[in-house]
Amino acid sequence: MGENFLTCLVCICSFGVMKMAGNRGDKEESDKITVPSIKDSSVRIVRIVVFLVVFVAGVVIGLASSSHVNRYFYSQKELSFYGNNAIFATSPLSSAQSNCSIMQSCESEKIDCLSMDNILHPGKLTHALSDEELFWRASVVPKIEEYPYRRVPKVAFMFLTRGPLPLLTLWERFFQRQEGLFSIYVHTQPGYHLNVSNDSVFYGRQIPSQSVSWGSISLADAERRLLANALLDFSNERFVLLSESCIPVFNFRTVYKYLTASVHSYVESYDDPSRYGRGRYSRRMLPNIQLHHWRKGSQWFELNRALVINLISDSKYYSLFRKYCKPSCYPDEHYFATYLNIFHSGLNSNRTVTWVDWSQGGPHPATFGGENITAAFIQSIRNNGTKCSYNSDRTYICYLFARKFAPSALVPLLNIAAAVMEF
Ligand SMILES: *[C@@H]1O[C@H](CO)[C@@H](O)[C@H](O)[C@H]1NC(C)=O
Ligand SMILES: *[C@@H]1O[C@H](CO)[C@@H](O)[C@H](O)[C@H]1NC(C)=O
Ligand SMILES: *[C@@H]1O[C@H](CO)[C@@H](O)[C@H](O)[C@H]1NC(C)=O
Ligand SMILES: *[C@@H]1O[C@H](CO)[C@@H](O)[C@H](O)[C@H]1NC(C)=O
Ligand SMILES: *[C@@H]1O[C@H](CO)[C@@H](O)[C@H](O)[C@H]1NC(C)=O
Ligand SMILES: *[C@@H]1O[C@H](CO)[C@@H](O)[C@H](O)[C@H]1NC(C)=O
Repeated sequence: MGENFLTCLVCICSFGVMKMAGNRGDKEESDKITVPSIKDSSVRIVRIVVFLVVFVAGVVIGLASSSHVNRYFYSQKELSFYGNNAIFATSPLSSAQSNCSIMQSCESEKIDCLSMDNILHPGKLTHALSDEELFWRASVVPKIEEYPYRRVPKVAFMFLTRGPLPLLTLWERFFQRQEGLFSIYVHTQPGYHLNVSNDSVFYGRQIPSQSVSWGSISLADAERRLLANALLDFSNERFVLLSESCIPVFNFRTVYKYLTASVHSYVESYDDPSRYGRGRYSRRMLPNIQLHHWRKGSQWFELNRALVINLISDSKYYSLFRKYCKPSCYPDEHYFATYLNIFHSGLNSNRTVTWVDWSQGGPHPATFGGENITAAFIQSIRNNGTKCSYNSDRTYICYLFARKFAPSALVPLLNIAAAVMEF
């Protein structure tokens, strides 16, 4: 009994304040979670401490399940810890948390809240963590290097969108029969509900989102939010940022192999001496960020897990960008490239794997509609005769994804996908 009670307490805490009523992906839910829940900072500190204690206890209990004595000892400690704190009562979500029916449902549905699977691969993406809480949680790294399970690395596909995904059908085909090798995350404007059927790989994959205004720091915030949510799944090893106008130009197997076997990440990074590059640097970022550190690059990046953990754990450099990189400085074009250049330049290939056409000039790249889609065009993105460096070798495969494609491109793309893109 005491054990079950503890299990359920841990369940509640490991899922934060996620509602367990089973209404996944609900619109009201995603609205609500964007509201900062706690004003009182002391309460927040207590909550963080509770998270820490419960997380450690969870890991210990999970791993030492053979030792009943240990488990009993910890459960006593946990119970008295909770008993002495009115934490649930002071939270605005306390009614949901203190409601014993949640614990009962934990028992009655026989959910093993402490199973490795629940710790490693959080099933639902809804939660009410603030960004601060989320980044802290995501930055928790296991000290033991070997995984106590057979870890198949996954690629996290993170879609940063305003709303609909017009090329969804193409992506669904791309992901077909690849279960277990990828995870999908979608950040939309808050309140937008991605309406997909429950058998789609995109079903229930929206993360708690906040409003984004293009060009401002909120865009980089959203990218970090996607990264942090994706980090919660311990199997995610590579992280790709995509937009609603992106398409894959190779099949899943090729993309997966290319990324998981790469020793580098793919964040475009170059020194642009013009006013659109160095011109956006601010001397107020000194002494931490110097002009020779400053880099520019497309926001559509690909990163490995170790770099992602470093990036979302950084607040020092990020706050310099928040303060001093304002239009016409665009944090999403400079933060990731500059940060990696300062700390991890050897791990970055400095090129992007997302093709884009700037050849027409102007502030926006070319958009391709239905009338532009030909096999030869897609083939030229897959291989244009130029080699790129890959690990210590060179390869004709330089780009795995391409943008920007209008909704009208969907049907022509589906028509040539099998023949040209091999999926
Ligand atoms: C607890 O949950 C039950 C069943 O969902 C509900 O009937 C009851 O009103 C809830 N109590 C509180 C205090 O929220
Ligand atoms: C979601 O899509 C289904 C099928 O396309 C449609 O019947 C339904 O009305 C849509 N729901 C909303 C809220 O748009
Ligand atoms: C998916 O939706 C269909 C009807 O829209 C429903 O019959 C089915 O039970 C649902 N499946 C799951 C796993 O929720
Ligand atoms: C990327 O650029 C940095 C500095 O500009 C350099 O140190 C690093 O070696 C480059 N990476 C590769 C793989 O060439
Ligand atoms: C797409 O095709 C149209 C019609 O042929 C053409 O006018 C347009 O320039 C093409 N767009 C691009 C980006 O090539
Ligand atoms: C092929 O792509 C590379 C990299 O984008 C570019 O530098 C090169 O000019 C392209 N070559 C041709 C023939 O289009």
